[in-house]
Amino acid sequence: MMGDQGNQPNHMSPDEFRREASRAIDLVAAYMKQVQSLPAKPETKPGDVFSKIPAEAQLEPGEPGEWSRVFEEIESLILPNMMHWQSPSFFGYFPCNSTGPAIIGELLSAGLGQQGMLWQTSPASNELERALLDQMGRAMGLPESFLSISDNGGGCIQSTASEATLTAMVAGRRRATERGADFHKTTVYASTQTHSSFVKAGLIAGLASNAEDTSRVRLIAVNAQCEMDLGALERAIREDLANGLTPAMVCATLGTTGTTAIDDLAGIVEVLRDTGAADAGCWLHVDAAHAGALLVCPEQRAMIEGIEHADSLCFNPHKWLLVNFDCDLFWTSDRRSLVNSMSVTPEYLRNRATDTGEVFDYRDWGVPLGRKFRSLKLWLVLRHYGLSGLQTHVRAGLEQAELFESLVLADDRFEVLMPRTMNLVCIALKAGDEATRRLMELVNNQGPAFLTHTSVPMQSGDRYAIRVSIGATTTRTEHIRQLFDQMSGFADEAVASASSAQAE
Ligand SMILES: Cc1ncc(COP(=O)(O)O)c(C=O)c1O
Repeated sequence: MMGDQGNQPNHMSPDEFRREASRAIDLVAAYMKQVQSLPAKPETKPGDVFSKIPAEAQLEPGEPGEWSRVFEEIESLILPNMMHWQSPSFFGYFPCNSTGPAIIGELLSAGLGQQGMLWQTSPASNELERALLDQMGRAMGLPESFLSISDNGGGCIQSTASEATLTAMVAGRRRATERGADFHKTTVYASTQTHSSFVKAGLIAGLASNAEDTSRVRLIAVNAQCEMDLGALERAIREDLANGLTPAMVCATLGTTGTTAIDDLAGIVEVLRDTGAADAGCWLHVDAAHAGALLVCPEQRAMIEGIEHADSLCFNPHKWLLVNFDCDLFWTSDRRSLVNSMSVTPEYLRNRATDTGEVFDYRDWGVPLGRKFRSLKLWLVLRHYGLSGLQTHVRAGLEQAELFESLVLADDRFEVLMPRTMNLVCIALKAGDEATRRLMELVNNQGPAFLTHTSVPMQSGDRYAIRVSIGATTTRTEHIRQLFDQMSGFADEAVASASSAQAE
């Protein structure tokens, strides 16, 4: 016994764990309160944190009091140097919600120490994930062909939408190849406004040699609303087919990152059918990373018209739907092709459950072998809020965005650059790009709000736009009004400083 204990490191006893974990929970609860009045952006300069961390890892176990010092450093070094994504004034990128039930799910997931690469390695994690993807598929109006109870469908949780896109691309290429395509002559398509993860997936999958190589990763022009131009897609596909290439995957983006434009899914389905690309095995992936949250509201489902002809869809509840990062839901209606494209089975992974063919081994559904018990946090969010709670959250974000848009439209120094499709408002000062850029800088420097920008392709040329992205769980109407008051207060100063800079 002595020998055994002597060879063990300084494991935490369950009692010690209870004590220190309670302090962590107290800290998180205090942060949840505090974040409601914190400016979103820290004042950190590059190197501020790095320079305070010792170069060498600590060799000896922490001495008595170590945990108190750890918590002090979290307060003094970590908290002041974080972007506060949960601040009510966080309007950058897309929201990245964090909520009590999801945090508890994360804690349980870590505490239960599961690794769900195979059904056998965690039946509970595996089957909860499978069941919840079916629940969510139904809740979002997906056809039965995407559910695991169907002959060839089902869903899993990927870490990110980027992984989902890569997975769909590899599955599509495999299916097209099985139907006779030359592996090296397969092509993939998305609009110029699609997320950069599409080009990245092309790089990883070996379809492009660098980010500018569009010989097989085709970026299709967009129309005035930033939606994929269907005529341009059709021409590109026909031209590729005529040149002996085979379209293997099209990615339709519902809610582009820049402006939340919504590609015409039903129109893309028609193009794939009319050109013969669908028959040749071309995989239709739907990237609804952000906008998928809307689908929990029945009145928001027009955008998935045609979904029964798609092969996969993903969306991130970790953006706007109250589940902590990371959680990307990915469904396919062709799980056989998906699994065929990625399954590699060494002897050490073989087991009886897999051999029965009755279980889903999620290691074959994406890039990693090992898998976290991510479904717990989704489950707790669903149990706590219910679908009606999710709907309320999404609808509140939409109302706030509508309010913000109306405030902008009522001020004739401003313009809304793209029609608003959901909870993102893309705005600019009529005085021009430089004034708009300066306005964003003024707001971000002053706080509490944090804003990010994009470039919007307009007929008159690209325009610099401030993206006001709404959806943090703490944001209320007063924060929306406060943001607009601040922008409006700074507008003249931004215009004046832009024109004096130009005059110099
Ligand atoms: C439309 C779209 N697709 C994909 C992504 C990438 O998301 P992830 O971080 O989950 O890879 C984003 C991120 O904002 C996005 O907006």
